[in-house]
Parts: sequence; structure tokens; C-alpha cells
Amino acid sequence: MSAAAPPLPFEASRLPAHLAVIMDGNGRWAEARGLPRAAGHRAGTEGVNRVVRWCREWGLRHLTLYAFSEQNWGRPEEEVGALMSLLAEYVREQRAEILARRIRLRVIGDDLAPNGAGRLPGWVRAPLRALVEESARNEGMTLTLALSYGGREELARAARLLAEDVAAGRLRPEEVGEGAVRARLYAPDLPDPDLVLRTSGERRLSNFLLWQSAYAELCFLDCAWPELTAEELLAALQQFAARERRFGLTGAQARAARAAP
Ligand code: IPE
Ligand code: IPE
Ligand code: MG
Repeated sequence: MSAAAPPLPFEASRLPAHLAVIMDGNGRWAEARGLPRAAGHRAGTEGVNRVVRWCREWGLRHLTLYAFSEQNWGRPEEEVGALMSLLAEYVREQRAEILARRIRLRVIGDDLAPNGAGRLPGWVRAPLRALVEESARNEGMTLTLALSYGGREELARAARLLAEDVAAGRLRPEEVGEGAVRARLYAPDLPDPDLVLRTSGERRLSNFLLWQSAYAELCFLDCAWPELTAEELLAALQQFAARERRFGLTGAQARAARAAP
């Protein structure tokens, strides 16, 4: 069992409302130890359990985890199979804890509907969908898993939905603006991420939340995902709290906007 979360060294109001994480480095973590990559993914799952618990205890509102990209389907069959098994195991083993902690589980990317276009195998999709439905009214923290997710795919889908609406006469072309695009993303009601964090030393987004990250703060940590500690995560959150977000305005305007009720 993982240790309890260390106390938050600053006020919870200074946490990002939405933290999105690119959980990277499982494979290299395992390879460096002479282990199969699947062992890295297993250690990564334990990392997920720890981080979810810490964030819940600190009072974070929304946590999004990039667990499997659309492009990850191109990995060797054996690795994809190991990841699918771990995902099913995660749902089975964490279900009670997710419900007990009043966490709402969501999925972006894969279409979980029984006859939907999703690519996850049915034996992963069905229990996942059940937990998404079972936890839908929970108000503790939103835990969104990006599964079979790609930012470009999400935007292409939004464009297709817009085109269908225009073709059917439900929408006029001049009504296509930021709001109309946003409304057709996977989870339009989820606030944009305030902080996007990536482990493993890579400094790229790898097709993650391309639209939503327009004004996100970015933080890159050198540790592999399985070895991320609460202290390192807190340091990243503290760094976020110290940054000034200006959203295109001048510093003076941004400060005035923050001071306004
Ligand atoms: C992240 O770790 C997990 C997934 C992409 C599923 P990686 O498997 O990408 O690990 P590295 O980057 O190869 O070390
Ligand atoms: C991004 O990591 C996807 C996830 C963490 C699930 P990748 O390891 O797939 O990204 P690249 O290939 O290094 O860009
Ligand atoms: Mg990687």
C-alpha cells in the first residue's frame, strides 16, 4: 500500500483546477532494470493509484491521465495486450476505492457505447463503461482517462460533427466559432487543463489535448512515471502556483482581472 499524501504546503485554492498528465517513461523505466516493458506498465499502474490518491486528498477538482494514445495502437501486439489487461485489472481492482472516494470516472477518446466506434476490446470497454456510469454522480474529483485518445482525432471528429450539422441544416456556417467547436469535443463540460505535466524528460505534447491546452502551463519532469514521488509532484504544483498566467493580456490587466470578484 502506498503511503498517505504529504500535506499540501500551500492553500488548496492555488492548486490547478485541472491537472492533466502525460504519464510517460514506463517502458524505459523497465528496460533500465532489465525488465520487460509490461513490468513498467504494471509499475505505472501503481503510480496511477498513488497519484489519484494524493490528488484526491489534496482536493484537486479534475485530474486527466493520458493512458493510451490513438498512436499507441501501433505498438507490438504483446505490449498492447498487456496494457489492455492492466486497464481491465485497474477497473476491477480500483472500483471500490473510486466509489468510496466519490471519484467520478470519465473517458475521452474511445467511444464506450456498446455498438460505438471504439477500439477497446469489449472485455475492457464493458467494465469501464459500467464504472463510468456507476460513478457519474460522484462529486469528489473527476478522473478522466484519455484512452485511445488523440488530439487531432478529436478535432477531426469535431469538424465532422460540425459538417454533418451544417449539411443537415441544424447549424449555419457563420455559427461555427470557438464555442461550436468546443461543444463537439469529447468532454465539452470539462474545464481546460491549467497545468499539463509530462514525466520522462520528453518535452512534447504527443497529440494530447491540443485544443484544450491552448493556455495551459507546461511542466516537464525528468523522472519516469513509475518513480514520480509526491514531493516531485508537489514541487511542480508549487511552481504552477507561482506562475503568472496572462491569457494574452498585459501583466497589469491580468492582475486586475484576478483581483476582480
Ligand atoms: C507511457 O510509457 C505509457 C504509454 C504510452 C502507454 P511508455 O510506454 O511510452 O514508456 P517509454 O516512453 O517507452 O519509456
Ligand atoms: C504519450 O506517450 C502517450 C501516453 C503517455 C499514453 P508516447 O510515449 O506514446 O509518446 P511519444 O511516442 O514519445 O511521443
Ligand atoms: Mg513514451
